[in-house]
Amino acid sequence: MQVIKYISLESIDSTNTYAKKNAKLFDDEFTVIQSKIQLSGRGRMDRVFISDNEEGAWFSLVIKPKRNEVSPKQSLLIPIMAALAVAVSIEDIYKIKCGIKWPNDILINYRKVCGILCESQTVNDSINYMIIGIGINVNQSSFNKQIKDIATSLLIETEKNLPVDLLIQNICGNLLSLYDKIKHGKTACIIDKWNQYSLMDNTVITYTKEQSSYTALSKGIDSTGRLVIEQDGEINYLDSNEIRLKIQGA
Ligand code: BTN
Repeated sequence: MQVIKYISLESIDSTNTYAKKNAKLFDDEFTVIQSKIQLSGRGRMDRVFISDNEEGAWFSLVIKPKRNEVSPKQSLLIPIMAALAVAVSIEDIYKIKCGIKWPNDILINYRKVCGILCESQTVNDSINYMIIGIGINVNQSSFNKQIKDIATSLLIETEKNLPVDLLIQNICGNLLSLYDKIKHGKTACIIDKWNQYSLMDNTVITYTKEQSSYTALSKGIDSTGRLVIEQDGEINYLDSNEIRLKIQGA
């Protein structure tokens, strides 16, 4: 049986930052750091992630692969696996289907309910650790003016007020079983399942790369998790680290 070490905090700047600072001290393959409040939650592309309230699930799973069980190439699917784990748990517990905006935003009715920040350290082609930071709006009943048109919570969408811990435990269970699939090279089923939640099938997108904006048609993801796009009659592939993306009309 796989065991998860669990660290529960009252308040911290960011569970991802805590994980990064302390990863070398963790002995276990899996450690979860959860905090009731984050004072400086971090998002992708150096953005701020608002999480200074107790209504959300703010946590990071640190994976320290044993004996190089996962290669850096296989680890490219970690953000894909993380979004899938969250989408499946939300559907199981809240009976609501959410959509995944590549690479790993979870939306309900085109509003963001969850963001994911994956970070890792690789030395000499060997992964020291991977951090999967997950922030979910769970029991917020409203959002401030600045974000109310782009953010939502599970409470707002389903009128269910459920404990944050229930969701976190369920997601961690999914993460571990999907990670096991990645370890054993069974990645096709992850891509297939991700596609069932995808908002990226034949969708018009605009993306920004190196300060220029482009419009393209997204065609889903390839076997390594890159976004396949059709642009000016050509097929291209986008890497999540290098772009900002918007779904047109959303
Ligand atoms: C994004 O939407 O750009 C990603 C947001 C990731 C937020 C989570 S909350 C837990 C963990 N700690 C952080 O500081 N960030 C991640």
